[in-house]
Amino acid sequence: MRLTLDGESKDVRTVWLEGGVVKLIGQRYLPFDVRVYDAKALEDVAVAIEDMVVRGAPAIGATAAYGMAQAGLQGLDLREAAERFRKTRPTGHDLFVAIEYMLKAAAAGEDLAVAADRYADEDVARCRKIGEHGATLIKNGTRILTHCNAGALATVDYGTVMAPLRVAKEKGRRFFVYVDETRPRLQGARLTAWELLQEGIDHAIITDGAAGHFLGRGEVDLVLVGADRIAANGDTANKIGTYGKAVIAKENHVPFYVAAPTSTIDLGLASGDKIPIEERSPQEVLHLDGHPIAPKESPARNPAFDVTPAKYIQGIITESGILRPSQLRGTGSGAPRKKKTPTKKRR
Ligand code: MRU
Repeated sequence: MRLTLDGESKDVRTVWLEGGVVKLIGQRYLPFDVRVYDAKALEDVAVAIEDMVVRGAPAIGATAAYGMAQAGLQGLDLREAAERFRKTRPTGHDLFVAIEYMLKAAAAGEDLAVAADRYADEDVARCRKIGEHGATLIKNGTRILTHCNAGALATVDYGTVMAPLRVAKEKGRRFFVYVDETRPRLQGARLTAWELLQEGIDHAIITDGAAGHFLGRGEVDLVLVGADRIAANGDTANKIGTYGKAVIAKENHVPFYVAAPTSTIDLGLASGDKIPIEERSPQEVLHLDGHPIAPKESPARNPAFDVTPAKYIQGIITESGILRPSQLRGTGSGAPRKKKTPTKKRR
Protein backbone atom coordinates (compact mmCIF):
# COMPACT_ATOMS: atom_id res chain seq x y z
CA MET A 1 0.00 0.00 0.00
CA ARG A 2 1.09 3.57 -0.56
CA LEU A 3 2.04 5.28 2.70
CA THR A 4 3.81 8.46 3.79
CA LEU A 5 6.63 7.39 6.05
CA ASP A 6 9.16 9.91 7.41
CA GLY A 7 7.68 12.51 5.04
CA GLU A 8 8.20 10.30 1.99
CA SER A 9 5.40 8.60 0.02
CA LYS A 10 6.36 4.97 -0.67
CA ASP A 11 4.93 1.49 -1.34
CA VAL A 12 5.22 -0.58 1.81
CA ARG A 13 4.01 -3.95 2.88
CA THR A 14 2.41 -4.69 6.26
CA VAL A 15 5.45 -6.77 7.34
CA TRP A 16 8.98 -7.39 6.04
CA LEU A 17 12.45 -8.44 7.21
CA GLU A 18 15.26 -5.86 7.11
CA GLY A 19 18.75 -6.37 8.57
CA GLY A 20 17.50 -9.29 10.66
CA VAL A 21 14.71 -7.14 12.17
CA VAL A 22 11.03 -7.94 11.54
CA LYS A 23 9.49 -4.61 10.50
CA LEU A 24 5.75 -4.06 10.95
CA ILE A 25 3.37 -1.20 10.17
CA GLY A 26 2.11 -0.50 13.72
CA GLN A 27 -1.67 -0.75 13.56
CA ARG A 28 -2.68 0.29 17.11
CA TYR A 29 -2.31 4.02 16.49
CA LEU A 30 -3.51 4.16 12.90
CA PRO A 31 -4.77 6.27 11.22
CA PHE A 32 -3.53 9.08 13.50
CA ASP A 33 0.09 7.92 13.70
CA VAL A 34 1.88 5.95 10.98
CA ARG A 35 4.92 4.26 12.50
CA VAL A 36 7.10 1.23 11.83
CA TYR A 37 7.45 -1.23 14.70
CA ASP A 38 10.81 -3.05 15.04
CA ALA A 39 10.63 -6.61 16.36
CA LYS A 40 14.23 -7.55 17.06
CA ALA A 41 13.67 -10.94 18.68
CA LEU A 42 11.25 -13.87 18.83
CA GLU A 43 9.37 -12.55 21.87
CA ASP A 44 8.94 -9.11 20.25
CA VAL A 45 7.33 -10.73 17.20
CA ALA A 46 5.06 -12.95 19.31
CA VAL A 47 3.94 -10.04 21.51
CA ALA A 48 3.35 -7.88 18.40
CA ILE A 49 0.84 -10.53 17.28
CA GLU A 50 -0.78 -10.94 20.73
CA ASP A 51 -1.07 -7.19 21.35
CA MET A 52 -2.33 -6.60 17.80
CA VAL A 53 0.47 -4.36 16.58
CA VAL A 54 -0.20 -6.50 13.51
CA ARG A 55 -3.56 -8.20 13.05
CA GLY A 56 -5.68 -9.87 10.36
CA ALA A 57 -5.27 -13.60 9.70
CA PRO A 58 -2.98 -13.50 6.59
CA ALA A 59 -0.82 -10.69 8.04
CA ILE A 60 -0.39 -12.69 11.25
CA GLY A 61 0.68 -15.68 9.15
CA ALA A 62 3.29 -13.67 7.23
CA THR A 63 4.56 -12.13 10.49
CA ALA A 64 5.09 -15.61 11.95
CA ALA A 65 6.90 -16.62 8.74
CA TYR A 66 9.31 -13.70 9.13
CA GLY A 67 9.56 -14.41 12.86
CA MET A 68 10.62 -17.98 12.07
CA ALA A 69 13.20 -16.71 9.57
CA GLN A 70 14.57 -14.30 12.20
CA ALA A 71 14.73 -17.13 14.76
CA GLY A 72 16.67 -19.20 12.22
CA LEU A 73 19.06 -16.31 11.55
CA GLN A 74 19.61 -15.94 15.32
CA GLY A 75 20.34 -19.68 15.64
CA LEU A 76 17.29 -20.37 17.81
CA ASP A 77 15.52 -23.76 17.96
CA LEU A 78 12.84 -23.48 15.30
CA ARG A 79 10.54 -25.95 16.99
CA GLU A 80 10.52 -23.80 20.12
CA ALA A 81 9.94 -20.70 17.99
CA ALA A 82 7.06 -22.48 16.27
CA GLU A 83 5.58 -23.44 19.64
CA ARG A 84 5.79 -19.83 20.81
CA PHE A 85 3.99 -18.55 17.71
CA ARG A 86 1.28 -21.22 17.98
CA LYS A 87 0.45 -19.82 21.43
CA THR A 88 -0.16 -16.24 20.21
CA ARG A 89 -3.72 -16.13 18.80
CA PRO A 90 -5.72 -19.39 18.28
CA THR A 91 -8.40 -18.54 15.69
CA GLY A 92 -6.65 -17.36 12.50
CA HIS A 93 -5.64 -20.41 10.43
CA ASP A 94 -2.95 -18.70 8.33
CA LEU A 95 -0.70 -18.53 11.42
CA PHE A 96 -0.50 -22.33 11.56
CA VAL A 97 -0.13 -22.66 7.78
CA ALA A 98 2.82 -20.22 7.83
CA ILE A 99 4.56 -22.03 10.70
CA GLU A 100 4.32 -25.40 8.89
CA TYR A 101 5.49 -23.71 5.65
CA MET A 102 8.63 -22.42 7.38
CA LEU A 103 9.34 -25.68 9.24
CA LYS A 104 9.15 -27.46 5.87
CA ALA A 105 11.52 -24.90 4.31
CA ALA A 106 13.93 -25.41 7.20
CA ALA A 107 13.75 -29.19 6.85
CA ALA A 108 14.59 -28.74 3.15
CA GLY A 109 17.66 -26.70 4.14
CA GLU A 110 16.32 -23.53 2.49
CA ASP A 111 17.44 -19.96 3.27
CA LEU A 112 14.65 -18.99 5.64
CA ALA A 113 14.68 -15.30 4.76
CA VAL A 114 14.13 -16.31 1.13
CA ALA A 115 11.36 -18.72 2.14
CA ALA A 116 9.59 -16.05 4.22
CA ASP A 117 9.77 -13.57 1.33
CA ARG A 118 8.32 -16.24 -0.95
CA TYR A 119 5.51 -16.87 1.53
CA ALA A 120 4.76 -13.13 1.59
CA ASP A 121 4.85 -12.89 -2.22
CA GLU A 122 2.43 -15.83 -2.48
CA ASP A 123 0.05 -14.06 -0.06
CA VAL A 124 0.08 -10.91 -2.24
CA ALA A 125 -0.49 -13.00 -5.38
CA ARG A 126 -3.46 -14.75 -3.75
CA CYS A 127 -4.99 -11.40 -2.79
CA ARG A 128 -4.60 -9.97 -6.29
CA LYS A 129 -6.46 -12.96 -7.72
CA ILE A 130 -9.18 -12.58 -5.10
CA GLY A 131 -9.45 -9.01 -6.35
CA GLU A 132 -9.99 -10.10 -9.95
CA HIS A 133 -12.62 -12.70 -9.07
CA GLY A 134 -14.40 -10.54 -6.50
CA ALA A 135 -14.60 -7.45 -8.72
CA THR A 136 -17.12 -9.31 -10.91
CA LEU A 137 -19.63 -8.81 -8.06
CA ILE A 138 -19.19 -5.00 -8.01
CA LYS A 139 -21.06 -2.97 -10.60
CA ASN A 140 -21.57 0.77 -10.92
CA GLY A 141 -23.81 1.84 -8.05
CA THR A 142 -23.32 -1.28 -5.92
CA ARG A 143 -23.71 -0.54 -2.19
CA ILE A 144 -21.50 -2.79 -0.08
CA LEU A 145 -21.47 -3.45 3.66
CA THR A 146 -18.26 -4.64 5.27
CA HIS A 147 -17.19 -5.49 8.83
CA CYS A 148 -13.73 -5.15 10.44
CA ASN A 149 -10.63 -4.64 8.29
CA ALA A 150 -9.73 -7.19 5.61
CA GLY A 151 -7.56 -4.75 3.73
CA ALA A 152 -3.89 -4.45 2.84
CA LEU A 153 -3.18 -4.05 6.58
CA ALA A 154 -4.74 -7.45 7.32
CA THR A 155 -2.61 -9.18 4.69
CA VAL A 156 0.89 -8.56 3.32
CA ASP A 157 -0.60 -6.15 0.79
CA TYR A 158 -3.74 -5.49 -1.26
CA GLY A 159 -6.18 -7.19 1.16
CA THR A 160 -8.95 -9.72 0.70
CA VAL A 161 -12.17 -7.66 0.91
CA MET A 162 -10.27 -4.53 -0.17
CA ALA A 163 -8.82 -6.35 -3.24
CA PRO A 164 -12.11 -6.51 -5.24
CA LEU A 165 -12.84 -2.93 -4.18
CA ARG A 166 -9.40 -1.82 -5.44
CA VAL A 167 -9.82 -3.72 -8.73
CA ALA A 168 -13.36 -2.35 -9.31
CA LYS A 169 -12.03 1.15 -8.62
CA GLU A 170 -9.12 0.57 -11.03
CA LYS A 171 -11.71 -0.46 -13.64
CA GLY A 172 -13.41 2.91 -13.15
CA ARG A 173 -16.55 1.70 -11.41
CA ARG A 174 -18.39 3.98 -8.93
CA PHE A 175 -19.74 2.19 -5.82
CA PHE A 176 -20.29 2.86 -2.12
CA VAL A 177 -19.14 1.12 1.07
CA TYR A 178 -20.80 1.06 4.50
CA VAL A 179 -18.02 0.43 7.03
CA ASP A 180 -18.98 -1.08 10.40
CA GLU A 181 -16.89 0.67 13.07
CA THR A 182 -16.21 -2.81 14.57
CA ARG A 183 -16.07 -2.59 18.30
CA PRO A 184 -14.18 -3.05 20.52
CA ARG A 185 -10.92 -2.25 18.64
CA LEU A 186 -12.53 -0.25 15.79
CA GLN A 187 -10.66 -1.91 12.88
CA GLY A 188 -13.44 -0.71 10.55
CA ALA A 189 -13.53 2.95 11.63
CA ARG A 190 -9.74 3.26 11.99
CA LEU A 191 -8.25 0.98 9.30
CA THR A 192 -10.83 0.19 6.60
CA ALA A 193 -12.03 3.79 6.34
CA TRP A 194 -8.38 4.91 6.10
CA GLU A 195 -7.64 2.45 3.27
CA LEU A 196 -10.83 3.50 1.43
CA LEU A 197 -9.89 7.16 1.77
CA GLN A 198 -6.47 6.48 0.26
CA GLU A 199 -8.14 4.71 -2.67
CA GLY A 200 -10.69 7.50 -3.12
CA ILE A 201 -13.58 5.04 -2.64
CA ASP A 202 -16.90 6.53 -1.42
CA HIS A 203 -17.85 5.25 2.01
CA ALA A 204 -19.47 6.01 5.34
CA ILE A 205 -18.63 4.66 8.78
CA ILE A 206 -21.62 3.27 10.69
CA THR A 207 -22.04 1.86 14.18
CA ASP A 208 -22.12 -1.94 14.27
CA GLY A 209 -25.73 -1.75 15.31
CA ALA A 210 -26.77 0.36 12.30
CA ALA A 211 -26.08 -2.32 9.67
CA GLY A 212 -29.47 -3.98 10.22
CA HIS A 213 -31.18 -0.63 9.61
CA PHE A 214 -29.51 -0.14 6.21
CA LEU A 215 -29.95 -3.82 5.23
CA GLY A 216 -33.63 -3.68 6.21
CA ARG A 217 -34.25 -0.51 4.19
CA GLY A 218 -32.82 -2.06 1.02
CA GLU A 219 -29.82 0.29 1.04
CA VAL A 220 -27.25 -2.52 0.79
CA ASP A 221 -26.79 -4.74 -2.29
CA LEU A 222 -23.89 -6.91 -1.13
CA VAL A 223 -22.20 -7.87 2.14
CA LEU A 224 -18.47 -8.59 1.81
CA VAL A 225 -16.40 -9.77 4.77
CA GLY A 226 -13.07 -11.46 5.43
CA ALA A 227 -12.35 -14.66 7.34
CA ASP A 228 -10.00 -15.96 10.02
CA ARG A 229 -10.72 -19.65 9.58
CA ILE A 230 -13.06 -21.51 7.26
CA ALA A 231 -14.03 -25.09 8.11
CA ALA A 232 -14.34 -27.83 5.46
CA ASN A 233 -18.14 -27.36 5.27
CA GLY A 234 -17.80 -23.60 4.71
CA ASP A 235 -18.69 -22.41 8.22
CA THR A 236 -16.64 -19.23 8.60
CA ALA A 237 -15.04 -17.55 11.61
CA ASN A 238 -14.56 -13.79 11.32
CA LYS A 239 -14.60 -10.72 13.54
CA ILE A 240 -17.26 -10.75 16.25
CA GLY A 241 -20.48 -9.34 14.84
CA THR A 242 -20.17 -10.95 11.41
CA TYR A 243 -22.68 -13.74 12.14
CA GLY A 244 -25.42 -11.25 12.98
CA LYS A 245 -24.87 -9.40 9.68
CA ALA A 246 -25.19 -12.69 7.79
CA VAL A 247 -28.55 -13.49 9.39
CA ILE A 248 -29.97 -10.02 8.69
CA ALA A 249 -28.62 -10.12 5.14
CA LYS A 250 -30.38 -13.43 4.50
CA GLU A 251 -33.58 -12.09 6.05
CA ASN A 252 -33.44 -9.23 3.55
CA HIS A 253 -32.29 -11.31 0.56
CA VAL A 254 -28.93 -9.52 0.36
CA PRO A 255 -26.08 -11.75 -0.90
CA PHE A 256 -23.36 -12.39 1.69
CA TYR A 257 -19.84 -13.17 0.44
CA VAL A 258 -16.59 -14.06 2.21
CA ALA A 259 -13.25 -13.08 0.65
CA ALA A 260 -10.35 -15.25 1.82
CA PRO A 261 -7.23 -16.98 0.49
CA THR A 262 -7.17 -20.78 0.59
CA SER A 263 -4.55 -20.50 3.36
CA THR A 264 -7.48 -19.57 5.59
CA ILE A 265 -9.42 -22.76 4.78
CA ASP A 266 -8.89 -25.52 7.35
CA LEU A 267 -10.03 -28.83 5.85
CA GLY A 268 -8.98 -30.50 9.09
CA LEU A 269 -12.10 -29.14 10.78
CA ALA A 270 -15.37 -30.61 9.55
CA SER A 271 -17.56 -27.73 10.83
CA GLY A 272 -17.44 -24.32 12.49
CA ASP A 273 -18.19 -25.48 16.03
CA LYS A 274 -14.64 -26.90 16.06
CA ILE A 275 -13.00 -23.53 15.35
CA PRO A 276 -11.16 -22.22 18.46
CA ILE A 277 -12.54 -18.78 19.35
CA GLU A 278 -10.15 -16.34 21.02
CA GLU A 279 -11.46 -14.58 24.12
CA ARG A 280 -9.58 -11.35 24.69
CA SER A 281 -9.29 -9.07 27.73
CA PRO A 282 -12.58 -7.57 29.03
CA GLN A 283 -10.65 -4.30 29.34
CA GLU A 284 -10.91 -3.91 25.55
CA VAL A 285 -14.71 -3.73 26.00
CA LEU A 286 -14.71 -1.56 29.12
CA HIS A 287 -12.39 1.08 27.66
CA LEU A 288 -12.25 3.14 24.50
CA ASP A 289 -8.81 4.44 23.55
CA GLY A 290 -7.77 3.94 27.18
CA HIS A 291 -10.76 5.81 28.62
CA PRO A 292 -13.20 3.84 30.83
CA ILE A 293 -16.67 3.74 29.27
CA ALA A 294 -18.39 1.59 31.92
CA PRO A 295 -18.52 1.18 35.70
CA LYS A 296 -15.25 -0.46 36.65
CA GLU A 297 -17.19 -2.91 38.86
CA SER A 298 -19.05 -4.28 35.84
CA PRO A 299 -17.66 -7.49 34.31
CA ALA A 300 -17.41 -7.89 30.52
CA ARG A 301 -16.95 -10.69 27.96
CA ASN A 302 -14.88 -10.24 24.82
CA PRO A 303 -14.97 -13.06 22.25
CA ALA A 304 -12.93 -11.73 19.32
CA PHE A 305 -14.61 -13.81 16.60
CA ASP A 306 -17.86 -15.63 15.81
CA VAL A 307 -18.79 -18.33 13.31
CA THR A 308 -21.20 -17.78 10.42
CA PRO A 309 -22.80 -21.07 9.35
CA ALA A 310 -22.29 -21.93 5.66
CA LYS A 311 -26.04 -21.69 4.93
CA TYR A 312 -25.81 -17.89 5.19
CA ILE A 313 -22.86 -17.62 2.77
CA GLN A 314 -23.54 -17.16 -0.97
CA GLY A 315 -19.90 -17.66 -1.97
CA ILE A 316 -16.28 -17.68 -0.84
CA ILE A 317 -14.02 -15.56 -3.05
CA THR A 318 -10.62 -17.28 -3.19
CA GLU A 319 -7.62 -16.99 -5.48
CA SER A 320 -9.01 -20.06 -7.29
CA GLY A 321 -12.37 -18.40 -7.99
CA ILE A 322 -15.72 -17.84 -6.26
CA LEU A 323 -16.66 -21.13 -4.60
CA ARG A 324 -19.87 -22.25 -2.91
CA PRO A 325 -19.26 -23.38 0.69
CA SER A 326 -19.93 -26.96 -0.45
CA GLN A 327 -17.08 -26.76 -2.99
CA LEU A 328 -14.17 -26.31 -0.56
CA ARG A 329 -12.88 -29.87 -0.45
CA GLY A 330 -9.62 -30.00 -2.45
CA THR A 331 -8.77 -26.38 -1.60
CA GLY A 332 -7.18 -25.22 1.66
CA SER A 333 -4.98 -27.21 3.97
CA GLY A 334 -4.98 -29.44 7.04
CA ALA A 335 -6.04 -33.02 7.82
CA PRO A 336 -8.52 -34.21 10.52
CA ARG A 337 -7.06 -33.39 13.98
CA LYS A 338 -7.63 -34.18 17.65
CA LYS A 339 -10.30 -32.05 19.44
CA LYS A 340 -8.62 -28.88 21.01
CA THR A 341 -9.86 -26.83 24.00
CA PRO A 342 -11.18 -23.62 22.37
CA THR A 343 -10.83 -20.55 24.61
CA LYS A 344 -7.72 -18.88 26.13
CA LYS A 345 -8.16 -15.98 28.64
CA ARG A 346 -5.98 -12.95 27.67
CA ARG A 347 -4.21 -10.91 30.40
O1 MRU B 1 -8.78 -9.35 15.57
P1 MRU B 1 -8.34 -9.07 14.15
O2 MRU B 1 -8.24 -7.63 13.82
O3 MRU B 1 -7.09 -9.84 13.81
O4 MRU B 1 -9.52 -9.69 13.24
C1 MRU B 1 -9.38 -9.60 11.85
C2 MRU B 1 -10.55 -10.10 11.11
O5 MRU B 1 -11.51 -10.62 11.64
C3 MRU B 1 -10.45 -10.04 9.59
O6 MRU B 1 -11.71 -9.85 9.03
C4 MRU B 1 -9.86 -11.34 9.09
O7 MRU B 1 -8.68 -11.63 9.79
C5 MRU B 1 -9.59 -11.32 7.62
S1 MRU B 1 -8.19 -10.48 7.26
C6 MRU B 1 -7.94 -10.59 5.60
